[in-house]
Amino acid sequence: MRKIAVIPGDGIGPEVVREGLKVLAAAAAVTGFKYETVEFDYGGQRYLKTGEVMPHSALDELRQFDAIYLGAVGHPDVKAGIIEHQLLLAIRFGLDQYINLRPIKLYPGVWTPIKDKGPADIDFVVVRENTEDVYIGAGGFAHKGTDMEVATQIMVYTRKGTERAIRFAYELTRKRNRKRRLTLCDKSNVLTYGHDLWQRVFREVGEAYPDIEKDHAYVDATTMWMVKNPEWFDVIVTTNMFGDIITDLGAMIQGGMGIAASGNINPEGVSMFEPIHGSAPKYAGQNKANPLAAISACQMMMEYLGEAQTAAVMERAIVRTLESGHIPTMSASGGLPTTEIGDLVAGHCSG
Ligand code: IPM
Ligand code: MN
Repeated sequence: MRKIAVIPGDGIGPEVVREGLKVLAAAAAVTGFKYETVEFDYGGQRYLKTGEVMPHSALDELRQFDAIYLGAVGHPDVKAGIIEHQLLLAIRFGLDQYINLRPIKLYPGVWTPIKDKGPADIDFVVVRENTEDVYIGAGGFAHKGTDMEVATQIMVYTRKGTERAIRFAYELTRKRNRKRRLTLCDKSNVLTYGHDLWQRVFREVGEAYPDIEKDHAYVDATTMWMVKNPEWFDVIVTTNMFGDIITDLGAMIQGGMGIAASGNINPEGVSMFEPIHGSAPKYAGQNKANPLAAISACQMMMEYLGEAQTAAVMERAIVRTLESGHIPTMSASGGLPTTEIGDLVAGHCSG
């Protein structure tokens, strides 16, 4: 019996998570997968009521589960940064989910804004380091509010953090067994300390992977290639901040925010799966949000739990739904009611 912690979160989070769980239930009925879910009310609503986004015991509690399924966090009445730091980053860091895995895959039947490119061209994975970089919150102010003010926000990279991300990426490239090409995306021409470390570790770890082609692109050029020649990429490994930015671009070329999913992975611990999109308060409570990204995130969760059969049933159902052409757009609001998209995908779950 697998135990899944569910954090629906804010805005459209609860609505899209409900559909993800609906599809999971349909797939589990086919495969016989046994699981239980426990829901947690962490997020903006709880913060507004109690002054805390999640209780101090949260991380210890979450450690008891096999995986975490997260909807979206962010509340219009809570200052930006609070929920991000006290929930999302607190869990990523606290559970040492050191990889943020973001597949950029254009499914058949889905429109991409890139002219003349199709599913054969847009199919790669971004391995984003997930516990370091400017995200750790090192820095501060001096002389705040005066014209002498100094603000620093420090990019921090450790040998260990860099190495484990790069090693994971090499392993994934080998496992995918497609183009067997790993692209390091950095800005080593300017970040001459931090990304010098990344360059050295990429080469050193790469010695154990003679079967993998080593490729390099500066981050600015990466955004250009992702649009111009996305078929070049197989796996991209990159730092936390750059990974954040290029995967929003990635979400667009795979059709839109309504379809892009991600996994915060701790290969030795508890991982958390979530759509890339945010809480989209303007669509909240209207049954308008596209749940496909959340459904995909749930599918990824099954894959990472080693539930290959259930994952395959879910992926097939997603593909069949998209091929049917019933869903007009992959933007954050799917053009069909949230519940109806969930019903369609659930209906396509079969053996
Ligand atoms: C993401 C989000 C987060 C990030 C924010 C909400 C902190 O943009 O998951 O991509 O920057 O990692
Ligand atoms: Mn982001």
